[in-house]
Amino acid sequence: MTEQRGNWTSSAGFVLAATGSAIGLGNLWKFPFITWENNGGAFVLMYLVCIMAVGLPIMMAELLIGRSSQKSAVGALKEAVGPAWGVLGLWGVLCGFILLSYYTVIAGWSLFYFAQTVGWTAGGFPDGLQTGDLFGEQVSNPGLQLVMSLGFSMATVGVVYFGVQKGIERIARLFLPILFGILLLMLFSALQMEGSGEALAFVFRPSFSELEPAGILEALGHSFFTLSLGMGAMITYGSYIAKDQSIVKASAVIVVLDTVIALVACLIMFSVIFSVAGMAEQVGGSTVGMLFISLPQLFYTEVPFGTILGPLFYVLVALAALTSTMSLLEVVTSYVIDEHGISRHNATILCGAAVFVFTIFAALSFADVPVLSTLAVFEGKTGWFETADHFVSNWMLPTGGLGITIAAGWFMTREKSEAELVDATTPAWFSYGAWRFFIRFVAPAAISAIIIAVMFFGVDFS
Ligand code: PHE
Repeated sequence: MTEQRGNWTSSAGFVLAATGSAIGLGNLWKFPFITWENNGGAFVLMYLVCIMAVGLPIMMAELLIGRSSQKSAVGALKEAVGPAWGVLGLWGVLCGFILLSYYTVIAGWSLFYFAQTVGWTAGGFPDGLQTGDLFGEQVSNPGLQLVMSLGFSMATVGVVYFGVQKGIERIARLFLPILFGILLLMLFSALQMEGSGEALAFVFRPSFSELEPAGILEALGHSFFTLSLGMGAMITYGSYIAKDQSIVKASAVIVVLDTVIALVACLIMFSVIFSVAGMAEQVGGSTVGMLFISLPQLFYTEVPFGTILGPLFYVLVALAALTSTMSLLEVVTSYVIDEHGISRHNATILCGAAVFVFTIFAALSFADVPVLSTLAVFEGKTGWFETADHFVSNWMLPTGGLGITIAAGWFMTREKSEAELVDATTPAWFSYGAWRFFIRFVAPAAISAIIIAVMFFGVDFS
């Protein structure tokens, strides 16, 4: 028996849930690292252009497809665009499935670092501890990896099990304000550090001679990941929006909040890094390095009030990750509920368990497990975890995003999209004509450029 579909209780509830989906490890883990790697300023500017020119129009497109049909990814595309478009929805569901399977592993690391930092706050930072070694030990410990990712996965299932209002919206309402609060506190503390001036200049002073063409494409690829676009999450969340809410306004708020948080995360991390002599030369090398190797120690040696901020910071990472994993699981679960008529409770457990099988593969990728730790499908990527991340970031999200632009811009009727975007609630700055131009021409051209870059020039977004 199918139960009635849920709805957000209010527009604020929806905006918080969608912002929670957008803000995640992409903001705290990936973005500071790629900004660092691409020398800041000019890269940040290109990222902002991509967010506005590609991310924002696609955000509106996904939300409107969801709301106009009131169905999850597969059903929504079938109904709003045409029966054959269900395939694009399935591509999204598959993408959500894979992304969730390895995202949970990184989220699990935040639990480990939370436990560690609580211990250090209580008992002092151990003399001579090498945080690089600590990281290596934890990722290669299969039992630990499994326990942490199982814990995180159960938390995700626990939220989605209770549905849109009592699960997802309630958690988003509770956690997002806490997340903003912790970030503000950390920003305040970081700006007191002597490296903060240099950090501000690094992020906001563009120097175009330092930006490589690959960096522009990386900025574009990341804008999908960070806004949860290209795989049906926003279609699914959009399907629970009430008719009297402005999709345009909501999209703008989500995009702005996600971007501000990404920039704040950079300022916090870079202020710390620039304040420590020699640190700027040491970081880099890997995405995990900054969040899980450099920072843990710096909290105890450099950051004002670091003993309190350290554990709080890893709570923040865990909360941000959870509000994203719940949206990923919702994409898969709502597909099973809507298309196969299974009840929410059964569907959530079924999907959570199925995803966890693959989480096990990702969790064991850093231990010495044959195939899982050695798999080499893509050049330079070793093991299941890296392979999955590479495939999702470089292939699935960009192709899914391109599909959405074509579906919304070329195959959905003008009347249908205009009716969703333009009504009494639409803000004055919005121009439907401009949106249509971006979704039909600008966004597809930009995404095609990424896909060509990945296919023919070996550019890598993961
Ligand atoms: N936007 C999330 C982040 O930045 C990741 C995500 C992608 C979540 C796609 C849901 C869907 O971490």
